[in-house]
Amino acid sequence: MKITKLKLNNFRNYNHENFDFCDNLNIILGDNGSGKTTLLEAIHYLSLTKSFRTHNNSDVVQYGNDYFQIFGTFNDSEIKELIVNLNYSKTEGKKLFYNQVELKKKTDIIGKIPVIILSPNNQKITEGGPSLRRNFIDRILSQINREYLLLLIEFKKRLYQRNLLLSGFKEKNRKAYDSYIETIDDFLIEHAFQIQKMRTGFIEEFNPVFESIFNSLSHIKKPVQIKIIPNISDGGENFINEYKEKLVSKFERDIIYGRTGSGPHLDQVMFIFEKRDIRFTGSQGEHKIFLVALKLAEGIFIEKNINEKVIFLLDDLFALLDKKHCMNIIDKIGFANQTFITATDMTVLKRADFDLSKYEHKVSHLPIGLS
Ligand SMILES: Nc1ncnc2c1ncn2[C@@H]1O[C@H](COP(=O)(O)OP(=O)(O)OP(=O)(O)O)[C@@H](O)[C@H]1O
Ligand SMILES: [Mg+2]
Repeated sequence: MKITKLKLNNFRNYNHENFDFCDNLNIILGDNGSGKTTLLEAIHYLSLTKSFRTHNNSDVVQYGNDYFQIFGTFNDSEIKELIVNLNYSKTEGKKLFYNQVELKKKTDIIGKIPVIILSPNNQKITEGGPSLRRNFIDRILSQINREYLLLLIEFKKRLYQRNLLLSGFKEKNRKAYDSYIETIDDFLIEHAFQIQKMRTGFIEEFNPVFESIFNSLSHIKKPVQIKIIPNISDGGENFINEYKEKLVSKFERDIIYGRTGSGPHLDQVMFIFEKRDIRFTGSQGEHKIFLVALKLAEGIFIEKNINEKVIFLLDDLFALLDKKHCMNIIDKIGFANQTFITATDMTVLKRADFDLSKYEHKVSHLPIGLS
């Protein structure tokens, strides 16, 4: 998938602006606050109907306005043209159109315009708490396996229901594990078993791809892997008994806390860099390379599943990286995908003696009109 044109109206600092892109490497240069991240954010909106830096659509509307509009022209691998238009107004909400036909269902949208975003915010995945890493795994797996997505949705619904009941028990000072709770728990156990099996299977498949990408990006060449430490330790025959025993024995404690303290929603996901948890030992650059490798591996899995090339949106890619890593990354991404890289200037690329002429490329200077 490739985006050839983009038009923005009232989108953050862009009043009315038009952009043209090339099919391979698009380098977006501009000073701080010139609108580089905003441009990537607009492409992300067309792919997933949301921002990667705010949950609130009205944050994105240009100050003093009531609405924004984004128009993008895309070509897929068969060079079929797709015109995507997303409008948001503070009064009417969001509307998305493909070739002027409105799309209402999320499932019609997801995966049609596959993008992989790497932004400084993402660094929390390797540096922050466990839920971000669990979400990273769940997000990829949900995109490539619909059965997993449905299992996860059902599991979360029942978990929510159980937690509500726990709060009710607390209010009424009830403690008895009754048959209604048992029915919910049986449902949770059955789903949890499948979720755990699929997560483990996915990690086994993902790790070799991830490690090989990491080693091609880095001259550091250290063993890397993702490791899951399941909350229910037995992934085999005894899973059901172990989980059931935990749910029953911790029931009174769960009532006190108002939430369910055991299950796959509490699985730990660790990113291992040379036998250690990168969270506590990695340098800033190592964190960044780890994340870039994760994102490139994510791209491979998504592409394999939907049979369409992803668009890479790499915001501030070169920050924190030495020149060898910068060159390796661009070489690895190569010619196969359309890629957007933002930077404040060309210093890093020049410093790296990078031969841009190898690639079809376009350098855009922001604000538009400057060069
Ligand atoms: N709703 C909005 N309306 C108008 N301007 C906005 C809005 N939201 C953010 N801005 C401004 O838009 C500008 C562009 O922001 P953006 O994050 O895209 O800059 P950037 O080029 O990525 O900068 P940096 O190099 O610092 O990352 C900033 O000056 C920001 O304050
Ligand atoms: Mg930025």
